Amino acid sequence: MSETLDLPGWRHVYSGKVRDLYVPEDAARDATTAERMLVVASDRVSAFDHVLSPGIPEKGVLLTTLSLWWFDRLAGGDGGRDIPNHLAASRVLTAPAGADADAVRDLIPPAVAGRSMIVKGLDMQPVECVVRGYLTGSGWAEYRANGTVCGIHLPEGLSNGDRLPEPIYTPAYKAPLGEHDENISYEQTVELVGADLAAQLRDLSLEIYDRAARTAEERGLILADTKFEFGLDDAGVLTLADEVLTSDSSRYWDAEAWKTGHSAAERMASFDKQIVRDWLAANWDRTGEPPTLPLEIVERTADRYRELLQRLTGW
Ligand SMILES: Nc1ncnc2c1ncn2[C@@H]1O[C@H](COP(=O)(O)OP(=O)(O)O)[C@@H](O)[C@H]1O
Ligand SMILES: [Mg+2]
Repeated sequence: MSETLDLPGWRHVYSGKVRDLYVPEDAARDATTAERMLVVASDRVSAFDHVLSPGIPEKGVLLTTLSLWWFDRLAGGDGGRDIPNHLAASRVLTAPAGADADAVRDLIPPAVAGRSMIVKGLDMQPVECVVRGYLTGSGWAEYRANGTVCGIHLPEGLSNGDRLPEPIYTPAYKAPLGEHDENISYEQTVELVGADLAAQLRDLSLEIYDRAARTAEERGLILADTKFEFGLDDAGVLTLADEVLTSDSSRYWDAEAWKTGHSAAERMASFDKQIVRDWLAANWDRTGEPPTLPLEIVERTADRYRELLQRLTGW
């Protein structure tokens, strides 16, 4: 399913749908995690829990660049408090702090430069921490059927794409590779990780959503919903991991289009995988292997990913 690269100094241990994980060559033979790990974002694109082909050119670089930018903002770059993240260097984007930055650069093999992060290997929590500020996607489907989203009752009369009275936390169980993630109740997260950690996951997720949504708003963007993953470090500190606030893990819309658009499609002009999801939903019955993506869909998705990075970061 994925090409694993021969990277000097590193040993491949795991491939997710999009990312490949490596540990240092000198880690124990059977180690699946290590103190330091290399996370390489590929150009693979997944939708409905299937990896599609072809990939989206430069997607891994765009996702990594955007994650690094957000990690930096959330570490205090946006004026908020420092939220611990899994980057092995504390300030990858801004600190040219001599030896440290050099050491980190040296650790990333040139073959995967730009698409990789050196991270602390964490004890990952089996909960996908989803926060929704707007009603759409699977949330909209459930609301139409039951008036709820992940069991949370919402006011009547909302339309697809509407802003929720306040952001809601709707966790999902992170299924092992190949299985489908599954929405769960807050109580089920308590059963999975304990009351203390469940509350921390929820509160931290809502805090990050809030800060990120404000940053997005300043740039004429709406952060409709997003998903975080957290792990515990050696000291037991809950740490933001994986990718963060990328076009793969989040729905972004253009704020102006959302305000003035007449149809749901116009209002939710998206910067994310929605282009791929929409095409697939219209061209695949969700049985067997998904069809090959047309070049036009691949190019439009790549353009939108690039545009999002540009609008957020100004780069
Ligand atoms: N700091 C970390 N330590 C250990 N595992 C991590 C860390 N950051 C991310 N991961 C894991 O790496 C994998 C990333 O691969 P990805 O392709 O995004 O997987 P998925 O198919 O589960 O979305 C995920 O399983 C994620 O939980
Ligand atoms: Mg992932």
